[in-house]
Amino acid sequence: MSQNRVLLEERLSHNLRKLELLHLESRLDALLEEKGFSGKSLKEQLNLLLEEEITFRQERAIRMRLKLARFPALKTIDTFDFSFQAELDKEAVLSLFGLSFVSERENVILIGPSGVGKTHLAIALGVSACQNGYTSYFTSFQMLMENLRRAAESNRLRRKLLTYCKPHVLVIDELGYLPMDHHDANLLFQLVSARYEKGSIILTSNKTYLEWGNLFPDEGIAAAILDRLLHYSKTIKISGQSYRLAMKRKMGLFDSMKQSPNRRTVIP
Ligand SMILES: Nc1ncnc2c1ncn2[C@@H]1O[C@H](COP(=O)(O)OP(=O)(O)OP(=O)(O)O)[C@@H](O)[C@H]1O
Ligand SMILES: [Mg+2]
Repeated sequence: MSQNRVLLEERLSHNLRKLELLHLESRLDALLEEKGFSGKSLKEQLNLLLEEEITFRQERAIRMRLKLARFPALKTIDTFDFSFQAELDKEAVLSLFGLSFVSERENVILIGPSGVGKTHLAIALGVSACQNGYTSYFTSFQMLMENLRRAAESNRLRRKLLTYCKPHVLVIDELGYLPMDHHDANLLFQLVSARYEKGSIILTSNKTYLEWGNLFPDEGIAAAILDRLLHYSKTIKISGQSYRLAMKRKMGLFDSMKQSPNRRTVIP
């Protein structure tokens, strides 16, 4: 390579770095070959390169949002088998993926028994939000309450509530497995109030609304929480059978377990 060419390469790298076009800097030669640049005008070539950088940045931002969301597994709507839940309102579920509930700061409540896909759909909505420029954060209800309790004990509740208010979508998974005492209910009230009309909550629960009354220690606080949670909200009820059990049945596991009572395995 001639001296001039080496200098040009160095200048180009330096300038791309300075403009923080890091993807172009690291892949420029490969991109120029891949894209079949010959025969294109200078403007077309420039535009192609800039689009490459933009796509790279968008994908990196999505990866970052997904990482920060702390989803326990990556679930999408594409892998949700609607034919398995024939009674589920497919149109209502799919319309949620338009994400207007996020821009309108509404809540989504997914209710149904164990294994019917509540967490799957909640994660899929959170993932979709991340892919479309919104931030999400996933927490189990239990972990949420532990963190709020710990924050309250050490005088950090206000700050903790603010961090739970930051994401556009807060997924709270599994309300209803454990009853709440007054302190817990008060903490939940503060969280729901803090996010009210400011950001969406996606909540999953294995209890029906009628049963929710028993989760809270008194009617006043139950009404205050439900009022805020349900005011702007969409409810998806799933009443079908457990996908987990169906898969086990399909693999022949469930029946063989039932037939051998001495086995210790517990079917979740
Ligand atoms: N209709 C479905 N199509 C594809 N996979 C499904 C479907 N329903 C559930 N699953 C899968 O079955 C497993 C259990 O579903 P999920 O965890 O969403 O259930 P859940 O309603 O949250 O249950 P739980 O109340 O016990 O937490 C997951 O791996 C999920 O991806
Ligand atoms: Mg679940």
